[in-house]
Amino acid sequence: MVVAASNPEFAEQRRSLADDFHRPTFHFIAPDSWMNDPNGVIHWDGKFHLFYQYHPESPRFGLAYWGHAVSEDAVHWQDLPVALSPSPGGPDATGCWSGCVVNKDGVPTAVYTGVGPQGYGQQSQCIATSQDDLLSWKKHSGNPILSEIPAISNQSYDLRDPMIWREGDTWYMLLASRIQSVGGSVFLYRSSDLYEWEFLHPLLTGNYAKDGCVWECPSFFPLGDKWVLIVAGKGRRIPFTVFYFIGDYADQQFVPETSGILDHAYFYAPFTMEDARGRRLLWGWLREGRSEEAHVAAGWAGCHSIPRELSLRDGQLHMTPVPELARLRGPRAQFSDIRLTGDDHHLAIQGLALDIEVEFNPQGTVGLALACLPDGSEETRVSFNPETKLLRVNRERSSLGQGLETFANEAPHELAPNECLQLRILLDGSVLEIIANGRTSICSRIYPTRSDSRGLRLFGNGQVTTLSVWQMRSIWNL
Ligand code: FRU
Repeated sequence: MVVAASNPEFAEQRRSLADDFHRPTFHFIAPDSWMNDPNGVIHWDGKFHLFYQYHPESPRFGLAYWGHAVSEDAVHWQDLPVALSPSPGGPDATGCWSGCVVNKDGVPTAVYTGVGPQGYGQQSQCIATSQDDLLSWKKHSGNPILSEIPAISNQSYDLRDPMIWREGDTWYMLLASRIQSVGGSVFLYRSSDLYEWEFLHPLLTGNYAKDGCVWECPSFFPLGDKWVLIVAGKGRRIPFTVFYFIGDYADQQFVPETSGILDHAYFYAPFTMEDARGRRLLWGWLREGRSEEAHVAAGWAGCHSIPRELSLRDGQLHMTPVPELARLRGPRAQFSDIRLTGDDHHLAIQGLALDIEVEFNPQGTVGLALACLPDGSEETRVSFNPETKLLRVNRERSSLGQGLETFANEAPHELAPNECLQLRILLDGSVLEIIANGRTSICSRIYPTRSDSRGLRLFGNGQVTTLSVWQMRSIWNL
């Protein structure tokens, strides 16, 4: 299924940017300009509706709208008109920030954070409803429905990104915040009607030195026989990082037992939802790794990850891109039993939009270089060192360009005895999503200067048991 952009203006914007080989072709991206968080993803009448933080006027972060797209398979998307726009003078005058959409007695109901005329320091929660299957939205005349910040926050102004679920007749909501001088926090609320909320207590509070001084975009849900809390954290000492906590939840109390980092680089602003098949799917915003001037020159910034299906395996969070992604796979190159003895092993394939599955038996560092020029002057090296137990994306030579983030992305990764290293790699223009053994994730960004930086090479010491590389089709029919 290839769906044309329905709105002619959006289609034109997409066409005008289509020659930019840094721009992803099979990841969801706004028609142009700036985008960030996924919002309010909901499965409604057999279709996924995805909303997203969108600044249609500029490729810089600014006045936030809710962009809107629809999909039958969570992979192909069709643009729909902007769903929410800031109302001048209203509680969302300077931004319709992140939130969720719930089904309230058959009425799609968006609960989101409005940022008032005074800017960031004026965050409150607002409601809008739709009477035409999520196409157009009417804001509640009594907005904001909640603006008081609980005293326990020690006078923080952060209170945002509502995430709502229902238990019996009761709605519960998490709002992300902080407890000043302690750490990021998520506050739990209760309501019988979505409009009047009672603050209960912080569901979990972090430590500012470890997981950020403010939390954002909480997601809380049952998975297997546990509950999982996912939050985005940031602070002076903590770069944008997504954390997860796995534990038990009873009587409105969450007791985490294990925790970890969901992604070790550019994946931020997590959003999860349960689809009609009962799968727990995770979306995220993939930030850029270049300057604001470069965003302006490109005319766009930000995209979303491929949705990932979450599960628990041996008590750990397991992630896999939705199997529907296979619908985009075109020609496949397949290899097996390649011995690596220190020299680079060139592969006779290339591409900028690839889905790669590779399994290594490492006898030392092993890896795959991609987006390579034949002489190696541009290349990105994804490697695993079994001694240091580090998965690494080396971007020193990813680009001959200037002003780019070139530091390595690293993640601790440990293999069990006799476990092979399995890498799933999605390369899509400047996007590089890597998941190792379903449990370690690095989403990186690279900006080669040459459109012929498309080669692939294996390197290191060990054996490649199997390698499959699929060329990926675009999701846009431009
Ligand atoms: C996370 C975030 C949210 C906020 C939104 C604004 O990236 O900062 O907390 O609602 O982005 O666009």
